[in-house]
Amino acid sequence: AFPRRVKVVEVGPRDGLQNEKNVVPTAVKINLINMLSETGLQVIEATSFVSPKWVPQMADHTEVMQGINKLPGISYPVLTPNLKGFQAAVAAGAKEVSIFGAASELFTKKNINCSIEESLERFDEVMAAARAASIPVRGYVSCVLGCPYEGKISAAKVAEVSKKMYSMGCYEISLGDTIGIGTPGSMKEMLTTVMKEVPVGALAVHCHDTYGQALANILVALQMGVSVVDASVAGLGGCPYAQGASGNVATEDLVYMLNGLGIHTGVDLQKLMDTGTFICSALNRRTNSKVSQASCRL
Ligand code: HMG
Ligand code: MG
Repeated sequence: AFPRRVKVVEVGPRDGLQNEKNVVPTAVKINLINMLSETGLQVIEATSFVSPKWVPQMADHTEVMQGINKLPGISYPVLTPNLKGFQAAVAAGAKEVSIFGAASELFTKKNINCSIEESLERFDEVMAAARAASIPVRGYVSCVLGCPYEGKISAAKVAEVSKKMYSMGCYEISLGDTIGIGTPGSMKEMLTTVMKEVPVGALAVHCHDTYGQALANILVALQMGVSVVDASVAGLGGCPYAQGASGNVATEDLVYMLNGLGIHTGVDLQKLMDTGTFICSALNRRTNSKVSQASCRL
């Protein structure tokens, strides 16, 4: 049975814009987030407090956090890889953060320059500081259905890392198919294993659409009881440390599918599509949302 409602976590301003070749003006980012705030979304991931040497696209994190209209009832989490990032995020006004690990040693090394074990130690420091400040923390686990450097990743490893991050106090674990390589078969196998260690109510899926499998994989996750889904407006996105990976499932396409299933999201599809049109014209590119492409032809 499907969940009756789904929480859509919009990651476009972060996952989408971290991967743009050209620097996106801060004003465009702020405009994008403000438009998303009017669509009915409850969670909009705004930016990352990572090193500007590693990801220059997110160097304006403080300006973005301070420039947006933070509407009541909407949460604007930001990525924080370590204590330094956490402190900068809080100083900029963040009320929720995300730590991001992976089920692959090599990806962890390329992405955040440490081993999985070291990453968990850093996360422990963030968790302690967050607890002291009453800041909720979301946890990402990347490479859950495959890694750009290691290839196949075992479901057992995904479950192990997920369980550790959940036990640390993350209120939600977002399972990332970073390179969009999974299929409904591998998604089902992975979730079956992870759900033995982390309650399904605390799981989210984060599907990149590189191989065109994202909606199918999400449908399987919904059937298995997952009720939180990450998505990116216009299907923007990718990871600088996963070359060739394309964007997340387009939020428009996700909402269209959920509407069709009669699953409540609270998101206004038309306003979402207008936001997609805005960001695509600002970036001078075609949308990756099939729903938006279809509507343009009508
Ligand atoms: P490092 O070089 O190992 O860190 O980087 P360090 O502690 O040795 O510090 C080196 C320098 O970075 C120092 O500055 C620090 O102050 C600075 P310097 O003395 O050279 O001037 N530094 C920082 N500056 C700003 N903010 C910070 C910070 N920390 C240290 N928080 C680090 C380690 C984690 C910082 C680095 O590897 C990094 O920033 N990585 C970015 C990774 C990233 O953003 N990846 C993309 C997001 S993850 C993703 O997309 C996947 C996801 O979508 C899920 C999925 O799809 O699977 C979430
Ligand atoms: Mg991602």
